[in-house]
Amino acid sequence: MTDALIARAVQHLRAGELVAMPTETVYGLAADARNDDAVRKIFAAKGRPADHPLIVHLPHAGAMHEWARDVPEAALALAGKFWPGPLTLILPRARGVSDRVTGGQDSVGLRVPGHPLALALLSAFGSGLAAPSANRYGRISPTTAAHVQAEFDAGQIAMVLDGGPCSVGLESTILDLTRAEPAILRPGAIRADQIAEILGRAPGAPSAAAPRVPGALAAHYAPRTPLRLCEAEALGDELRAAHAAGSHCAVLLRSLSAQALAAPSHLRVMPAAADDYARELYAALREADAAGADLILLELPPRAAAWLAVLDRLQRAAHGSGSA
Ligand code: TXA
Ligand code: MG
Repeated sequence: MTDALIARAVQHLRAGELVAMPTETVYGLAADARNDDAVRKIFAAKGRPADHPLIVHLPHAGAMHEWARDVPEAALALAGKFWPGPLTLILPRARGVSDRVTGGQDSVGLRVPGHPLALALLSAFGSGLAAPSANRYGRISPTTAAHVQAEFDAGQIAMVLDGGPCSVGLESTILDLTRAEPAILRPGAIRADQIAEILGRAPGAPSAAAPRVPGALAAHYAPRTPLRLCEAEALGDELRAAHAAGSHCAVLLRSLSAQALAAPSHLRVMPAAADDYARELYAALREADAAGADLILLELPPRAAAWLAVLDRLQRAAHGSGSA
């Protein structure tokens, strides 16, 4: 059954069509990274600006050399430790890697995803698949096949491979290895301290000189409903103020407090642990978005290292909603 689905997906990819595939982070919208016309379809489907580079997904670390040149020892060590997994390495691109994929930059993002279906697809395809998150530009990344279906019109995607809910739930950590100082461009499930252990030094934070990462634009990963982040202590006041103003609130809590029971139109208690929270976040935001509220109120998680990737996405999702 799975073999037949993979074979069909490979046929679509070889024909230059798009296939949505599950990964452990979020669902990706995949095309043959060696086929410019196919890659163009990704940008058209997402409504994404053409100069925003795509990650090339590989079946195994050995394929890195077909896509990157001057691969440093550090890249091999990191790939050995974290691939398949939620880490994207930015490396100098090899000759022949298309401007369509790299957005015209001299670097390329590479990752071996840690999902059995993605790996089966990549092995059967036998080459690199360019795949951004399978959402429309600027919206919330999909963590289920149903989320992907909801993002696109019939005919835009040849096939959606359903691999169940994503186990990580947030996009991969992006590490830039093209400069003297390795730098994290996007925080994810692989943390800076884990990377430092392999590199023997702490990676830097993004600098103004680093390549642009559209995921790093302030407003991104956003629900349609305004999102306000608030401290636990402020939640009761925020809810009362919203009610007084006649607003309907959807509330995403970390613990069930009496304050929060002031009859919001939608209430969800989020998991206490950071990795569980990350896994559920995008589905919870989509659900809150669909609740028909005027405002989503979200109780901020702790400002601790384990929560860095979650806090990063929350801040971006709230940006433009008149709150931090
Ligand atoms: O977990 C993930 O990374 C998911 C799954 C599908 O693999 N993919 C994903 O792709 O989040 P996307 O396109 O939504 O975000 C990839 C980010 C973009 O912000 C892009 O700018 C950055 O990676 N990127 C890709 N190639 C780059 C490069 N050569 N230099 C700098 N940034 C790059
Ligand atoms: Mg994305």
